[in-house]
Amino acid sequence: MNSTEKKWWKEAVVYQIYPRSFMDSNGDGIGDLKGIIEKIPYLKELGVNVVWLSPIYQSPNDDNGYDISDYRRIMDEFGTMDDFQQLLMLCHEAGIRLVMDLVVNHTSDEHAWFVESRKDRTNPYRDYYIWRDPADGKAPNNWGSCFGGSAWQFDEQTGQYYLHFFSKKQPDLNWENENVRNAVYDMMKWWLDKGVDGFRMDVISLISKDQEFKDGEPELTGYSSFNVCANGPRVHEFLQEMRRKVLSKYDLLTVGECTGGTLEEAKKYASSDEKELNMAFQFEHVTLDADTNNKWGLKPLNLVKLKEIMTKWQVGLEGKAWNSLFWCNHDQPRMVSRLGNDREYREISAKMLATCLHMMQGTPYVYQGEELAMTNMPFQDLSEFRDLDSINGYHEMVEVKKLMTSEEMLTSLRKKSRDNSRTPMQWDDSTNAGFSTGTPWIKVNPNYTEINAREQLQRPDSVFHYYQKLIQLRKQHEIIVYGKYELLDGTNPDVYAYTRALDNEKLLIVCNFTSKELDYPIPEMYKDGSCLISNYPDNTIGNKLRPYEAYVLHIEL
Ligand code: GLC
Ligand code: CA
Repeated sequence: MNSTEKKWWKEAVVYQIYPRSFMDSNGDGIGDLKGIIEKIPYLKELGVNVVWLSPIYQSPNDDNGYDISDYRRIMDEFGTMDDFQQLLMLCHEAGIRLVMDLVVNHTSDEHAWFVESRKDRTNPYRDYYIWRDPADGKAPNNWGSCFGGSAWQFDEQTGQYYLHFFSKKQPDLNWENENVRNAVYDMMKWWLDKGVDGFRMDVISLISKDQEFKDGEPELTGYSSFNVCANGPRVHEFLQEMRRKVLSKYDLLTVGECTGGTLEEAKKYASSDEKELNMAFQFEHVTLDADTNNKWGLKPLNLVKLKEIMTKWQVGLEGKAWNSLFWCNHDQPRMVSRLGNDREYREISAKMLATCLHMMQGTPYVYQGEELAMTNMPFQDLSEFRDLDSINGYHEMVEVKKLMTSEEMLTSLRKKSRDNSRTPMQWDDSTNAGFSTGTPWIKVNPNYTEINAREQLQRPDSVFHYYQKLIQLRKQHEIIVYGKYELLDGTNPDVYAYTRALDNEKLLIVCNFTSKELDYPIPEMYKDGSCLISNYPDNTIGNKLRPYEAYVLHIEL
């Protein structure tokens, strides 16, 4: 088997929904399942064939559903199990498969397992989590939480620390314990038997902790990165067990969020011999604009580096494993503000970025609002943020460790905070962008009067229709799915150009990443090619690239 072996999930385009911010059907300011149901026709119009739902399970919402207190119940604010069954049925009727978020590196501290676990040291659930004695009256080691501070929380009641790589309300499960693994597998089967079509597995690369619990390399904050545990000693064994016991019994889309994942590791996680998952999310391309020592430190993007990294993954996995393609998700700022130009070239640059990504090999993921070129939010002050990572980050960097000034941190948050992508979906130009008749749980971006779905659905040259076309092209041309990738002009600092090849067909993709006009002659071989798509309205292409221009030429040899 190799990566050109045909599979439905390689040919799919996935749309990610962050339910809290997608559509509110009952005016409480919070998106919900009935709201998603209302918008199925919109998803159908866009042409996506898979929806990935960020978590909808029962949760006290310390981390917006990524802290689950009951895996078999729907969060009250989102609706009921009946709503879910209906959503699933209607998606299937519309030809859309539904993929759930699987958050099993940790649970909420309000999950029944943890409530039991923390009661006493001999409780049968004690070993469902990771408890350690203090070392010299302090935390067992220097591991840091992804959301700031130590990854260890002292629990008075039993005099031990428990591990939490995320907030202290998200204790890490102990995957060494077979009972934990079996309980997770049972829960997965329970959802699969309802008919869901797969899982996006939250921070799955972190589940196996090195049992020596050694200190890691400290970062600026003095703690080591939560990534010390990425790709731990038994992670592949656990995923192979999960595949054997659960996944192999169904026809699914599975994608692992592999934070800290390297190419060598990804070849195992997403290997074409189907031992573990279908594909992995890697993050190298979205960490290029951060300081390696401080995630809140800003660094300008270097296109040559970006090309190098994308190419490493395209070429490295060819024939061996399968890529997932994304610029955006609920943890990343908006792509057009980050990599494009969210002012005068907003639409053109968003289309360019979409072209650049969607013509690569792998399964593309579109995050809600990306198809409208929604932008980062003009946050004014800290009180407007809802994300605990942003808020904790501010306290740690500005107040506790005093590593950044308040202004520096706010500048960083405006560029990087996860809340940039969590503002409500902009449906139309009515109050609250048509998202809710109540008060939204997080502010609506004031640019909704200009940037919204209704306006774009009416206008043939909108970003929405451009995405629709990219998705159509992928359905029409096998080369877009399966063709082999090759980078051109790797050292060009302004243009990202590459080719794809399949049998006697070739594609040339050229993208100007700058607001400058550039000389870029069409390579001889492609001069008579047909243009599959381009992002300037007149549809002509030539030997000069206009600001953020992108085009795709197709030839048959
Ligand atoms: C993943 C999720 C993120 C969440 C974290 C903890 O990275 O994408 O939103 O905060 O895991 O579950
Ligand atoms: Ca609601």
